[in-house]
Amino acid sequence: MEPIAEILYTEEEIRKRVQELAAQISKDYQDKNLLLVGILKGSFIFLADLCRQIAFPCKIDFVAVSSYGMRAESSGVVRIIMDTRESLEQKDVLIVDDIYDRGLTLNYLKENFLTRRPASVKICALLKKELSQEVKVKIDYLGFKVPNKFIVGYGLDFAEEFRNLKYIASLKDEYIKEKMK
Ligand code: IMP
Ligand code: MG
Repeated sequence: MEPIAEILYTEEEIRKRVQELAAQISKDYQDKNLLLVGILKGSFIFLADLCRQIAFPCKIDFVAVSSYGMRAESSGVVRIIMDTRESLEQKDVLIVDDIYDRGLTLNYLKENFLTRRPASVKICALLKKELSQEVKVKIDYLGFKVPNKFIVGYGLDFAEEFRNLKYIASLKDEYIKEKMK
């Protein structure tokens, strides 16, 4: 079965938008102590492209949080499985995530990071789902809005597959149902 329902953003559209976000971030953080913190694994491609367009040297770190695993629905519980190696103290932390869906992950991480005496904490998300936010979180830098479908590609997975697609796409509901049997 063909898994892809629709290509939402092409490689070229993503490249252009990432360039715009990086330009804005470079401007806003030029006199600051920027630390990019990518949320693994979904943000790895976005972060790699974004950081290379930033106009000055900056620090990069990662956290890993509990994931969806084989399921398309979140369990609702957020846990840090791997923490940053850098201390966040005095840093201007910019959390980089793949998608703002229910908001649990970003809300939890932002609150957690704020307790570590950073200079500031902001959020950059590649995607935002149109309807599903249960927890409101301010997204300071947003790439694109996407429909309330299951999204894959450019780092985002379904059951650990499709991360290496060059584009951002929605999956067919029948494909998800088939796989979750
Ligand atoms: P939230 O806590 O519900 O906002 O979920 C955030 C995390 O769930 C994201 O960082 C993604 O890793 C994952 N996620 C949510 N929706 C999707 C999707 O449509 N495709 C792939 N991963 C998703
Ligand atoms: Mg994620």
